[in-house]
Amino acid sequence: MENLIKDIDIITAEEAQACDFKTTEDESTGKSKKLYIESYGCQMNFSDSEIVASIMKENGFDTTSSFEEADVIFLNTCSIRDKAEQTVRKRLSQFNALKNTKPEMTVGVLGCMAERLKDKLLEEEKIVDVVVGPDAYRDLPNLVSQAEEGSKGVNTFLSREETYADIAPVRLNSNGVTAFISIMRGCDNMCSFCVVPFTRGRERSRDPYSIVNEARELFQKGYREVTLLGQNVDSYKWSPEENNKARLNRKDEVSEVYNFANLLEMVAKVDPKLRVRFSTSHPKDITDEVLYTMKKYDNICKYIHLPVQSGNSRVLKLMNRTYDREWYLERISKIREILGDSCGISSDMIAGFCTETEEEHKETLTMMDIVKYDFSYMFFYSERPGTLAAKKYEDDIPLDIKKRRLSEIIAKQNEHSLERNKLDVGTEQVILIEGTSKRSDEQFKGRTSANKMVIIPKGDFDKGDYVKVKITDCTAATLFGDILEINPSQI
Ligand code: SAH
Ligand code: SF4
Ligand code: F3S
Repeated sequence: MENLIKDIDIITAEEAQACDFKTTEDESTGKSKKLYIESYGCQMNFSDSEIVASIMKENGFDTTSSFEEADVIFLNTCSIRDKAEQTVRKRLSQFNALKNTKPEMTVGVLGCMAERLKDKLLEEEKIVDVVVGPDAYRDLPNLVSQAEEGSKGVNTFLSREETYADIAPVRLNSNGVTAFISIMRGCDNMCSFCVVPFTRGRERSRDPYSIVNEARELFQKGYREVTLLGQNVDSYKWSPEENNKARLNRKDEVSEVYNFANLLEMVAKVDPKLRVRFSTSHPKDITDEVLYTMKKYDNICKYIHLPVQSGNSRVLKLMNRTYDREWYLERISKIREILGDSCGISSDMIAGFCTETEEEHKETLTMMDIVKYDFSYMFFYSERPGTLAAKKYEDDIPLDIKKRRLSEIIAKQNEHSLERNKLDVGTEQVILIEGTSKRSDEQFKGRTSANKMVIIPKGDFDKGDYVKVKITDCTAATLFGDILEINPSQI
């Protein structure tokens, strides 16, 4: 789920670590006020900002890319590591000068930091007028108008039901080809290092029909790829009974439970020319049924983000990941058996978790040697207040050791990324064109089913087209290709 990279063609693993944010773009539909949002953290947060923009649009706001001209500034924040929070605090202090010259401007902190720190944020950051957690965005217009009248406000109510299913997101930073769809919110897993269950609340799944409708509408507007988002998509579970059939006024429904494999199939059937991706899969929950569903549909991309966190069973137990090294490796074998060697697999890794020994760290490296991930997001452990690990274990690995272990993990990943990419050289792949390459106006970029970015010369086609290419060269982060066929029958 952690995806801090936006529209970048060529990245190294180190660059992927760099904290990045997305901002709103200019939109003029004649509304009287301007909203600027800066979004940090994971795709889930970026997707939430699209819901926030939609709610604010209904209430008289167009988006802007310039915070100087905004009436309202929102920072949609992340708490996953200490550094993510520090970045936001620094950013708030940068807005101080602007607020001094423009005191009528409203500054809001949304998202995970808002949820974690609640009214403490108003005390600690004087510039902030509103603090709103991830389940309370419907209250934003109300809180903003109160702030305009001089009273600061906080709403960090966590809901067991809110999925914003009825809100059509305003697509921000859109390339018009790929889009995110949130399919669930919250997380019930309680991994001991992780703050998400506290900032996002209980897990709940969104009505599958609203998901399919959103995918269909996107396809009709020209989008060709959707990514289904959740902290743990494999635990998607929805039943009309539980979700109060009467309230939803749905009489045509059969009384059954929809799992993630069912949902994936429903979205895949929207159109064979709509690619479907998903993130994140949890190793304890990913089922063979999901893998067989992926195999059955060409338009479900053959790529799985399956974060391992550590290669050592004792550390995994302390992390409360509820699987061990053997279980994880069995899941990898199953993926290879059902989907073959070309299926892309990526991971998240944490170096230097509490009490991790040198030998245990080496097991993360040997895990990497066995799996050969195409890509990974790699971090050193950052203790988060209130988590199980913070309460139970000592954060006892010195920073320099954490950093050295992390650099070993990064070096290994770079080797493997290159090795995996080299296997693609000489093969034919179908890519979906997402737009012009950042490196040159003469080149397009698009991704393979396995989620690898390919750079090709511009031909007689446009964004949103599928192109069959021959891979001619690669780096650890990017493939380069020649055009073979435009709009092939297989995608
Ligand atoms: N739901 C996803 C992960 C979401 S958080 C999953 O279970 O895989 C994204 C990643 O941030 C995690 O996979 C983990 O690698 C990293 N992370 C989370 N908490 C962290 C912490 N306290 N210190 C360092 N990295 C952390
Ligand atoms: Fe955090 Fe674990 Fe939930 Fe992922 S599955 S969001 S790491 S608690
Ligand atoms: Fe995402 Fe960061 Fe929250 S990773 S769920 S924005 S803590």
